[in-house]
Amino acid sequence: MDLSDESFALIIFGITGNLAQLKLIPVLYDMAEKELLPERMSIVGTARSPKTDQEIRDYFRSVLEPEGKPPVRKVDDQVFKKLAERVHYVAGNLDDPEFYKQLEEHLDKLTNQGNDCNNRIYYLATYPNLYASIFENLHKLGMNQQNKGWVRLMIEKPIGNDFESAKQLNSLLAQYFTEDQIYRLDHYLGKETLQNILTFRFGNGVFEHLISNQHIDHIQITSSEDFGVGKRGAFYDQVGALKDVGQNHLLQMLAFTLMDSPTEFSNRAVTGERIKILKSLVPMPDKIVFGQYESYLQEEKVASNSNIDTFFAFKTEVNNERFKGVPIYIRAGKRMPMTVTEISLVFKIPENRLFKDKELGMEPNALIYRIQPNEGIVLKFLAKKPGHEIKLDPTFMQFCYKQDPHFQEIPDAYERLLMDTIRGDQTFFNDAEEVETQWKFIDPLVANRQKPAIYTPDQWGPKESDQLIEADGRKWLEPSPEFCNI
Ligand code: BG6
Repeated sequence: MDLSDESFALIIFGITGNLAQLKLIPVLYDMAEKELLPERMSIVGTARSPKTDQEIRDYFRSVLEPEGKPPVRKVDDQVFKKLAERVHYVAGNLDDPEFYKQLEEHLDKLTNQGNDCNNRIYYLATYPNLYASIFENLHKLGMNQQNKGWVRLMIEKPIGNDFESAKQLNSLLAQYFTEDQIYRLDHYLGKETLQNILTFRFGNGVFEHLISNQHIDHIQITSSEDFGVGKRGAFYDQVGALKDVGQNHLLQMLAFTLMDSPTEFSNRAVTGERIKILKSLVPMPDKIVFGQYESYLQEEKVASNSNIDTFFAFKTEVNNERFKGVPIYIRAGKRMPMTVTEISLVFKIPENRLFKDKELGMEPNALIYRIQPNEGIVLKFLAKKPGHEIKLDPTFMQFCYKQDPHFQEIPDAYERLLMDTIRGDQTFFNDAEEVETQWKFIDPLVANRQKPAIYTPDQWGPKESDQLIEADGRKWLEPSPEFCNI
């Protein structure tokens, strides 16, 4: 789809906030560098303190090249100039109706100059408690209407804090926008490596028929970070790991791993298949473990007696014909031994007479999707150890993005999702039903939240997490930093 003639405004509510600094501004720079931004696209940042257009452009530069810190991006002056020229600013309070009048006037001015801002994307990079006021104010001025052009809304997770509040937020959204205007972002859906699971499974004939309860013993997902909550203590302490990443990113990864082939690449088909899996997941409130890293209570803006989880591990199953009886183990946490996200499909050990003697070194095959870092797909299989005796040794076949020039350039998930929004493609966004289904699964687990067990940074979570899987005679696979470490 050629977007070069597209004319529209990207309006970012909260341009000086965390998300804009960490993600949106760097990604807009990347897109400018790759010449992906349509010529007549305007970027309008909004925040409280007054700034001139020049000041906001300087601010963009300072985000990319912060003083006294390593640059976030190596900035090319020409590229930056082209990006900066399209950046504008409107100051004001998001609960002040006057601000919206000024915003509309500014957009009209840009439209009159030849950049049609009747087409627009509103990006909510701001606090959820402001949403109601933003929607109401946009509505009062008809700024959510699509009479003069298309209007899209990008809204970040969290969508609610449980099923009920997600439903409320979805009905609030529905008062002002139609579902095809709403782009609910879970940035994991924009990850290249996650989207590639669909290609790997449905574009190849080799593995797909093996992915079922006939051949798979169990599935496990590990998503660990070697850092703590940093400056996000105030937010995180209200949420915890299960709601922060479990309700969304981890469930999305599982959906991609298990969903049936959609009939086409469309929102209805792809999202529909994800939802089918999410709906058939079985919550097991007595099979969940919560953990907290040792120094968490000393973090900034965290309650000194907080019982919030910085780690969780749970077991679940999918109640459908294809996967019934295949246990699924999921764990995620902060301050763990390494930063790595991978999904492993562990196959059943073949029942053959030749290698029945355990001494020979029989162990299961595993198919591993390495989501990040050192992205790739790995197949673990056994080979005969060279020598005069029969001994089996595990080895690996690897596809590594970094190894192949065609695969090296992996766009940031936010870049993918921003492009999709410009195109009007909701395939890799959540609809209301999907988010509510995720909460329906998570709520019973949250209801069983116990005091978290403490773990140290050299541990893969507390020992209770090991016990959870070992009780079934299985083990967590330790992610190997060697995979695709090129
Ligand atoms: C965010 C969570 O949604 O995802 C963070 O709020 C987490 O706590 C982050 O660190 C992980 O994203 P990524 O893309 O770095 O794996």
